[in-house]
Amino acid sequence: MIVLGIETSCDETAAAVVDDHRRILSNVIYSQLDEHKAYGGVVPEIAARAHLDILDGVIRQALSDADLEVADLDGVAATAGPGLIGGVIVGAMTAKAIAAVRGLPFIAVNHLEGHALTARLTDDVAFPYLLLLISGGHCQFLSVEGPGRYRLLGATLDDAVGEAFDKCAKMMGLGFPGGPAVETAAASGNPKRFAFPRPMKGRPGCDLSFSGLKTSVRKTIIDLPGATLSGQDSADIAASFQTAVADVITDRCAHAVAEFDQIHPNGKTLVVAGGVAANTELRESLSMLCTLVGFRFIAPPPKLCTDNGAMIAWAGIERLRLGLTDRMDFAPRPRWPLEELRGAAA
Ligand code: KG4
Ligand code: ZN
Repeated sequence: MIVLGIETSCDETAAAVVDDHRRILSNVIYSQLDEHKAYGGVVPEIAARAHLDILDGVIRQALSDADLEVADLDGVAATAGPGLIGGVIVGAMTAKAIAAVRGLPFIAVNHLEGHALTARLTDDVAFPYLLLLISGGHCQFLSVEGPGRYRLLGATLDDAVGEAFDKCAKMMGLGFPGGPAVETAAASGNPKRFAFPRPMKGRPGCDLSFSGLKTSVRKTIIDLPGATLSGQDSADIAASFQTAVADVITDRCAHAVAEFDQIHPNGKTLVVAGGVAANTELRESLSMLCTLVGFRFIAPPPKLCTDNGAMIAWAGIERLRLGLTDRMDFAPRPRWPLEELRGAAA
């Protein structure tokens, strides 16, 4: 079974071809960095137009890298939400058009399910597992029980952690996207120089919060003498911020592990997914926690943590195998919580 996956929900225009033996036959990602740089963040209208301009070429490239033609495909999957709706419409309509012309099944993939199931593509992880989904727009703990079968254990009360990385990077003048920029700056910084708060640390449950931490970074920057931050100041703020994030997420994760253990005592696996899962300090901290609590720790390679088409193709395969295909009138949606997904019966 071979599926084409299309991802256009944010600022990556991506297409990939994956088969049901967990082989990534191609994975083409065009990041719209130059298009949005001047604005310090993703501009939805510009993103949608850029997807429209380049998606055809990206799909053609994905097919040619895989040495395949549309006739070789068994299905076409596309992100149908959640995300910036203009881009989602471009991707979903393109997938529907290819599927309609070729008489192929169309699979409307939830972008978050793409992230959630990536560990099954990379590491063949069995259900159920505990998932920490951390991206630019989402931050939650889920019990993953099957395609379309998710139980929410905890989530951020305010900002997503990726958003906190992006906003702090912007305050420090580090550019966009902020996560990788903060990580690079932090490498030469002193994580002990600033004692940033650890919101929600030690509280019962596994909800998270990042807005207080962000405010504290802003206050620190304002209080430092001089009109501009020195390179060392930036590095120290980045390192102190990153350590605070890793500390607080690891604490919340320990609580999530305990909750998940109650529901699925034999699961014993933590998977991280989403763009922020590319962060090395966080991965190391979570890996140490897993060793302590006797959980297996699975973190897909960084390139498959940030948005890509392979994860959408794979989620398409998982759904296609179960007969979970979608009709041509499936409406793309900006908001689409994982708990509202349709899955196979337990
Ligand atoms: O999953 P993703 O590519 O797109 C969304 O679905 O949101 O995640 C993007 C987010 C951005 O906020 C970006 O700053 C963050 O992931 N990110 C990182 C790193 N790489 C990407 N955050 C921290 N460290 C990184 N290395
Ligand atoms: Zn994403």
